[in-house]
Amino acid sequence: MENSKHESARQREIIKKLREVVVPKKLTYFITTFGCQMNAHDSEKLKGIVEEIGYREADDELHADLVIFNTCAIRENAENRVYGRIGRLKKNKKKNKNMRIALCGCMMQQSVVIDKLKESYPYIDIVFGTHNLYKLAELLEINFETGAPVYDIWETYDEIVEDLPAIRKYKFKSSVNIMFGCNNFCTYCIVPYVRGRERSREKEDILSEIRDLVADGVVEVMLLGQNVNSYGKGLKDNTSFSDLLREVCRIDGLERVRFMTSHPKDLSDDLIDVIATEEKVCKHFHLPFQNGSSKILKAMNRGYTKEHYLNLVEKLRARVPDIALTSDIIVGFPGETDADVEETIEIVKKGQYSSCFTFIYSRRTGTRAAVMENGSTPEQIKTRFDKVLKAVDKEARDFSMRHLDKTYKVLVEGVNEKNTEMVTGRLDDFSLVHLKGTVEDIGKFIEVKIVEAKGFYLLGERI
Ligand code: SAH
Ligand code: SF4
Ligand code: F3S
Repeated sequence: MENSKHESARQREIIKKLREVVVPKKLTYFITTFGCQMNAHDSEKLKGIVEEIGYREADDELHADLVIFNTCAIRENAENRVYGRIGRLKKNKKKNKNMRIALCGCMMQQSVVIDKLKESYPYIDIVFGTHNLYKLAELLEINFETGAPVYDIWETYDEIVEDLPAIRKYKFKSSVNIMFGCNNFCTYCIVPYVRGRERSREKEDILSEIRDLVADGVVEVMLLGQNVNSYGKGLKDNTSFSDLLREVCRIDGLERVRFMTSHPKDLSDDLIDVIATEEKVCKHFHLPFQNGSSKILKAMNRGYTKEHYLNLVEKLRARVPDIALTSDIIVGFPGETDADVEETIEIVKKGQYSSCFTFIYSRRTGTRAAVMENGSTPEQIKTRFDKVLKAVDKEARDFSMRHLDKTYKVLVEGVNEKNTEMVTGRLDDFSLVHLKGTVEDIGKFIEVKIVEAKGFYLLGERI
């Protein structure tokens, strides 16, 4: 803790020094984020640092003096998109002497990626990973002084550095990290390798961050972790995720609490109880099942069977009947057959999901599944994928129809991009709602009656 305070003070000193260089030159920045909400939240921290240094946001990366790509390694196409974008910048970099390219995030934690960058993209200036993003100012300073590329990747972390600036995308809602890393080693997944071992933040640090956010206008928080259900393991005070949630709900002024992601193997009855009884906990539960076949779940090292998962869904629905369930699904895992996919579709139907992210399995070097024989052709996998998508769409439509003629509170998030007379917000159950409104409504709760259900969004009228 002491060390963490010392470290953030040191970074703030460097930020002050850099301001003297950056502000007079009127330098600009542009950050692109790939991947999940963890990365999106990390980018808010990066933004906090670069704006404090004095960089102003540019309209696009081609005209920025500091271009940052916060990368994702979860699937191959996420990685390919990054290589495409850095390739495109080579020309611009020649034209603009001030331009610096910084890469960070999950891709950078893989040595194959670092080798490729050094070999094929020598014009990249700063490279860091997921454990040391708080050091951005220091790395920039080194690069300014030496003019040479700076690579700083940590295999692991020392401690969690708190108290650095962050810039929120929304005034009224915010993500809050409650834990980092993952210990589950699902056999297809790169996250444990690029985000390191699971560690929880101290409960008091989390609560005090949320209190500060609320004092600054936040009414909704999203608690983030790869596996929030195991929050608290390794902390001194023997706390659990449901304890934390209860305490978060006691914070005055906070209206809604969301969280993700829950792992089915660690879902406790106590957590179901908190969802059912705490008003502020949103009635939306993201509970990825990945696959319907117990054989595939075993090969994925998920730690539960199809029956166990369906039992959890039943328990949840019994306590919170109108809860919106969402999930992640992987199609095309090694060894999967047509019959396995039918079981996935069976869960989709039984789960009555409001939406599911469906992915085609992507082989990740270094994971245990990478050496497994697939056994299916890409065409077979595509056909199965389309079949799953169709089932998912049907459930989403049915779920959406349930809202018709009922009234709800919408938290308005922004003006509709396509029709500026409309605003867009979310219900407690995460359904997207469009309604007539203006900028004035942003961040406010508005009562609406749902007059149309379009499958992926709802239309509401003020009452
Ligand atoms: N911690 C979360 C998931 C984080 S990754 C959980 O356990 O649910 C988000 C999703 O990406 C996963 O749920 C999974 O569906 C998908 N995913 C992960 N690795 C993948 C891979 N190699 N190929 C395809 N999809 C993958
Ligand atoms: Fe990946 Fe599994 Fe950890 Fe989720 S729980 S991040 S899928 S290893
Ligand atoms: Fe998230 Fe992608 Fe990293 S999904 S944790 S940004 S690999």
